[in-house]
Amino acid sequence: MSLIERARAARENAHAPYSGFGVGAALRTESGAVFAGCNAENAAYPEGTCAETGAIAAMVAAGARRIAEIAIIADTPEPISPCGGCRQRIAEFAGPRTRIVMATLSGRMRTATLEELLPGAFASAQLPRG
Ligand code: THU
Repeated sequence: MSLIERARAARENAHAPYSGFGVGAALRTESGAVFAGCNAENAAYPEGTCAETGAIAAMVAAGARRIAEIAIIADTPEPISPCGGCRQRIAEFAGPRTRIVMATLSGRMRTATLEELLPGAFASAQLPRG
């Protein structure tokens, strides 16, 4: 199953009763493992989490740390791109040239690198003890 198909399957489980906007994400690690996530909204709205965040948490929980590629899918006319917070979360575990694939249920697709979506990212190297 392709990364987009994995993201599509995860989206089926999205918990989005407040926005009605289900999102799925799936990432492949450098060692080839795939982890998927979906958005999980909450009655306390700000506590909801994005699909990308769920996929990253699953990867970290399994002991993996490097994202080789990540796909995001939603039911929109044009592909959606990750929110600012998720771009930063992806950057923690990816490189500037990591591919981010954005897809729609109808089959439209756009690809960008992390560097294109988050130029000048803040990273651990900028921390005093980085
Ligand atoms: N959402 C994601 O899961 N990923 C994105 O890249 C954009 C937005 C979710 C958050 C919220 O549950 C819903 O989509 C509407 O913003």
